[in-house]
Amino acid sequence: MNQSKDLKTRASDESFCSLLVGFNFIFFTCLLAFMLFLPLQAVLSGSDAPHGTDASHDEGVADASHGAAAEVHAAAGAVETITHAAGKAAYMVCSTCHGAEGEGNTALNAPALAGQQDWYLKRQLIKYKDGVRGTHPDDIYGMQMRPMAMMLTDEAKIDEVVAYIAQLPVTAPLPTLGGDVAKGAASYALCAACHGPDAEGNVLLNAPALQNLPDWYIVRQLQNYKSGVRGTHPKDIEGMQMRPMAMVLADEQAMKDIAAFINSKAGAE
Ligand code: HEC
Ligand code: HEC
Repeated sequence: MNQSKDLKTRASDESFCSLLVGFNFIFFTCLLAFMLFLPLQAVLSGSDAPHGTDASHDEGVADASHGAAAEVHAAAGAVETITHAAGKAAYMVCSTCHGAEGEGNTALNAPALAGQQDWYLKRQLIKYKDGVRGTHPDDIYGMQMRPMAMMLTDEAKIDEVVAYIAQLPVTAPLPTLGGDVAKGAASYALCAACHGPDAEGNVLLNAPALQNLPDWYIVRQLQNYKSGVRGTHPKDIEGMQMRPMAMVLADEQAMKDIAAFINSKAGAE
């Protein structure tokens, strides 16, 4: 009985052993096959390599440059957002006179700023700051503006607020002085040489856009130029170019007519 049990045990032991050996055999064979397969696969795909690697390399570079471009873009976007926020913050004080959207305020004598060319806005702010504009003893309104420009401590601040103004929507000013558009059109021919046929301005001639300015402001500036309140400061080179043009205009009616014609061009490109 005992022996038979021993035999039985040995048999099961043996079969276990052979199972183990068999398993090991299969296991190691698979492992070996796998290890052989790996380099083989490398060689196989290697025949494709020049293409494959180059393509993936190019893609990598493209991805990297896309990535870099995206980053630059994102950074530029962030800078833009910051500049916009700074400009908006700086414009808060301006809005009390020039309006929330730079549309101007007749009661406060503040002209529209929206729709004006950025280089001109910047130059006027510098002129006010440096006392080239807004220091003549009869320049009542310019004197109100000057301290505001002086609050813009440096050029970067000026650029920020100007960039903010530049993106404000343009509203066509409503005529208030009842000038004659047809008569104004005739006398505007002289002005068109510098300010453009639609009073859109011309950076090359330093002439600003006039088309979105309110008529009362246009007339007041023409009077200022004519009387020498504006355009007589020794450093006001552009103002000195404009002054003789205003002096050609016979009277206030001629100024009103021109302003009416200019207003008729509001919003023209
Ligand atoms: C207290 C009211 C007031 C505030 C605040 C004010 N301005 Fe003015 N601004 C004026 C007046 C008034 C004029 C017109 C001066 C004139 O008639 O000669 C003017 C003129 C200007 C001009 C010249 C426009 C042109 O067509 O030549 C610019 C540019 C300007 N302001 C920008 C600004 C900016 C930017 C701010 C804010 C930093 C600002 N202003 C704040 C009252 C103000
Ligand atoms: C020789 C070129 C030239 C001619 C012609 C000319 N202008 Fe000007 N005008 C200028 C320049 C330059 C300035 C800007 C002055 C400055 O930057 O301070 C200006 C400024 C002005 C301004 C002030 C704008 C503002 O926002 O404050 C008004 C208004 C104006 N011109 C109207 C006229 C009218 C009306 C005529 C025709 C009778 C005319 N100009 C003819 C060159 C000219």
